[in-house]
Amino acid sequence: MAFLLLLADIESKSWVKQLKIHEPQLDLRLWPNTGPVEEIDFVLAWRPPPGELARYPKLRCIASLGAGVDHLLRDPDLPAAVPVTRVVDASMAQSMSEYVVMAVLNWCRHMPRYARQQQERRWQVHVPRQASSTGVGIMGLGQLGGAAARHLVALGFDVAGWSTGPKQIAGVRSYIGEAQLGAFLGRTDILVCLLPLTERTRGILDARLFAGVRPGAYLINCARGEHLQEADLLAALDSGQLAGACLDVFVTEPLPPEHPFWRHPSITVTPHTASLTHPRAVVPRLIENYRRVMAGLAPLDQIDRLRGY
Ligand code: NAP
Ligand code: GLV
Repeated sequence: MAFLLLLADIESKSWVKQLKIHEPQLDLRLWPNTGPVEEIDFVLAWRPPPGELARYPKLRCIASLGAGVDHLLRDPDLPAAVPVTRVVDASMAQSMSEYVVMAVLNWCRHMPRYARQQQERRWQVHVPRQASSTGVGIMGLGQLGGAAARHLVALGFDVAGWSTGPKQIAGVRSYIGEAQLGAFLGRTDILVCLLPLTERTRGILDARLFAGVRPGAYLINCARGEHLQEADLLAALDSGQLAGACLDVFVTEPLPPEHPFWRHPSITVTPHTASLTHPRAVVPRLIENYRRVMAGLAPLDQIDRLRGY
């Protein structure tokens, strides 16, 4: 009945503390010191090495430490019959909403330009973009995209979302599937990507998509770096079809020092920080799931393995 914490590049101290607070009797193992592999029932993982999760023959649940599960599903040896769960948490949705609102307002109030002007001690006014006449299009209207949409509606933006199935969110126009993608893009001044990374969404932020948004649009990608065709973004910025981008996620993280995004005058880079998972917030739900699994019940917040999210 052991619980394995398998965090490849995240500090485990605060996870251990919270897990012990909420389940003092927990038989907690810290990877790579797993003990006998057949004793592991439950694993909380972030970016495990490929093949690693196939080593535990009695595994009953694989919990993603994040909202995304692409870091697990990319493993061809991930045990097929073991349920996979992800983080669904209100504080995460709040934090993502704050990031999206920050990036949208920064753009509408010309903050990147003013930052450059300040370096030059140059006093020049740019008329703010008005919320009511700014079309924000959110790709992915799930836990995070839906929350961000509500915040932007409250600020008076003209908000639409794109998803696989229809959504009913007050003040948000819902577009679905490939057939409505063109109409969704055609009303978009600020494009926000909050899709999961799946085989259908990998590379979706490409030249074809950028050609469909309103000229001079702004891109905010806070989902995964692999959604974006990086060369297509640079070309769209060169041509003026896109006027700027705020990027939180990258194909290679940390973003290598020589990467052109670092010094591009129209790109804002943040280090995958839009919405972090806080152990204090999510451990109660993890322990609830651990107890459910130990009692023979299905865990909550399971993903659909076929859909990929
Ligand atoms: P979610 O609740 O599963 O929502 C995903 C949304 O995307 C749903 O609305 C879904 O449509 C839509 N979707 C999926 N595939 C689609 C497709 N092919 N075409 C159109 N719409 C599609 O996920 P979430 O919790 O909001 O998280 C989204 C992603 O954010 C995560 O997967 C992760 O990669 C990223 N993330 C980033 C950070 C960060 O700090 N940068 C933090 C957390 C998460 P339906 O609702 O119709 O199924
Ligand atoms: C972070 O990127 C997450 O998936 O939670």
